[in-house]
Amino acid sequence: MVKVAVLGAAGGIGQPLSLLIKTNPLVTELALFDIVNTPGVAADLSHINTPAVVKGYVGDDQIAEALTGCHIVVIPAGVPRKPGMTRDDLFNINAGIVRNLAAQCAK
Ligand SMILES: NC(=O)c1ccc[n+]([C@@H]2O[C@H](COP(=O)([O-])OP(=O)(O)OC[C@H]3O[C@@H](n4cnc5c(N)ncnc54)[C@H](O)[C@@H]3O)[C@@H](O)[C@H]2O)c1
Repeated sequence: MVKVAVLGAAGGIGQPLSLLIKTNPLVTELALFDIVNTPGVAADLSHINTPAVVKGYVGDDQIAEALTGCHIVVIPAGVPRKPGMTRDDLFNINAGIVRNLAAQCAK
């Protein structure tokens, strides 16, 4: 029994990464968390004929359930760099996002 959670699963990296994890026959449960859109992503990936049961979770009130019992958590959540942003700006925003998600993992 291996449960994997992807945090930021609806994004440009999160969606293909989740698809690749779904193709791994060792994974039995795949929890897709984001602040948007994961129920649709989960519905799409659930059509791939592998053992992993996929479920989408959206928003702060669902992250605890997404993380419960996880063996592996992958975090591609963040914001991409926009015009005018420096790499330092990007780091500060993304560090805050990952810090909050890591705190939820720790719980
Ligand atoms: N795409 C690239 O080529 C590339 C290259 C280097 C670094 N990165 C970095 O990787 C990260 C992801 O890139 P992407 O292209 O997938 O961006 P993206 O904007 O397509 O996806 C990011 C996802 O993270 C989600 N998200 C934001 N805050 C969240 C939170 N608090 N909890 C859960 N989910 C949250 C967003 O809703 C979105 O679905 C970004 O930080 C980006 O800067 C991307």
